[in-house]
Amino acid sequence: MRARIRLEKEYRIAEADPRLFGAFVEHLGRCVYGGVYEPGHPHADPQGLRRDVVALVKELGVPVVRYPGGNFVSGFRWEDSVGPAAERPRRLDLAWRSTEPNLFGLNEFVAWTRAVGTSPMMALNLGTRGTEAALDLLEYCNHPGGSAWSDLRRRHGFPEPHGIKLWCLGNELDGPWQVGQKSPLEYGRLARETAKAMKLLDPTLELVACGSSHGRMETFPEWEATVLEHAYDYVDYLSLHSYYQNHEDDPAEFLASSAGMDAFIRSVVATADYVKARRRSHRTIHLSFDEWNVWFHSMEADRTVQPWTVGPPLLEDVYTLEDALVVGTLLITLLKHADRVKIACIAQLVNVIAPIMTAPGGPAWRQTIFYPFMHASRFGRGTVLDLRLDCPGYESKKHGPVPYLEATAVDDGRGTLTLLLVNRSVAEPVELEVQLGGYQGLSALEHQELRHPDRKAANTRERPDAVQPRPAAKKPEVEGDRLRLAVAPFSWNVVRVATRA
Ligand code: AHR
Repeated sequence: MRARIRLEKEYRIAEADPRLFGAFVEHLGRCVYGGVYEPGHPHADPQGLRRDVVALVKELGVPVVRYPGGNFVSGFRWEDSVGPAAERPRRLDLAWRSTEPNLFGLNEFVAWTRAVGTSPMMALNLGTRGTEAALDLLEYCNHPGGSAWSDLRRRHGFPEPHGIKLWCLGNELDGPWQVGQKSPLEYGRLARETAKAMKLLDPTLELVACGSSHGRMETFPEWEATVLEHAYDYVDYLSLHSYYQNHEDDPAEFLASSAGMDAFIRSVVATADYVKARRRSHRTIHLSFDEWNVWFHSMEADRTVQPWTVGPPLLEDVYTLEDALVVGTLLITLLKHADRVKIACIAQLVNVIAPIMTAPGGPAWRQTIFYPFMHASRFGRGTVLDLRLDCPGYESKKHGPVPYLEATAVDDGRGTLTLLLVNRSVAEPVELEVQLGGYQGLSALEHQELRHPDRKAANTRERPDAVQPRPAAKKPEVEGDRLRLAVAPFSWNVVRVATRA
């Protein structure tokens, strides 16, 4: 099939916020214990941080990491996680029915963020706790000294404040599974009062209010509207969460998931702007898509996991090529909404629905989804262009018409333009022509593809490199302001073009 993209250098969506390529570390399963932290592992540093995991996180390029949950945070007592590790209590975590030994806590996490070169996005417990505990934690983390909580941090060996600027006001508090579920009114008031108090301590903080747990919640989008009616003037972002499944093993339907993400983002933007109009406000609320990924492979296995153990193997999805293509389309969709989505966190980072897997005492490896994330994080920084795509498509049962090609283009402002592309067709290549208006002196730099003859191919401990990106057989052809290339069936593609200023 043939497709055509037209773009113009001056037609821009927005500058992509680097925090679109964030991730999430929760005290869940083997994400922390046996993932990030495994004392005694041959690659562990003296603090127990796995150096092989640090290296892979650096390779992914993750500018922000949300922590410590997730559902976990709604029962979390942060005070348990600081001070001498040997004196910290073991607690029962009701969210995941596991035992939390508190050997890795707040200060260890901050040290880990420094080791991987990222910054923390700290979630607060607004489930079982409230404004007071949030303020205590903020004072412990960010106040230089001379107050009870900041002096405690200093006594714990951290004379300098952690300087954490980005905070989540709870997690999924509309969810009946959440410890401390709230009505929109209860949460809206609590979010407002907590945000107000936190900004009294530091007006430069950036705060994320909880949106609905997903777009199919009964209370969506009334939850968003009510919460914002109360908290609008005090919060900066509204959160979105969404996980995508392929229970029916229908590749066309699964590959259309990003159309669902697109519609979800549009609805939340519309709701936030409705409240803006009602309030006659000049402030714009931006979006934080702080949990997204494919999640379904492990759901059955999780029912058999022994409760109340430390670091049990939960949510350990083994991702296929097909999943990687969906992740690619989701990344492209986030970039296409760079004007409103400023933060996004793939959930999660290690072992738990994650791009990085580890074996206890053994190696760490890259899952299939690692690659589209790494490419988007490396080459998706810059100005996202507002391209026009002309491409045949198909009708998805859940999401309506979907083009076979999903595409975005990012100009890095330093003479390189990157096209990120997914061909959703299982059988047909796309003969693509791209017209690049306003650019001169084009030359093709590279075309990397992620594909495999078996759409269920996965990377495992035994075969960690079964699915990995390779240069396409033929470089794109350039003729004047046009680029011509073949996009292989069922593939993720990175096409990089040098341009003259
Ligand atoms: O990421 C796994 C879980 O999914 C998180 O703890 C929760 O916020 C969401 O429901």
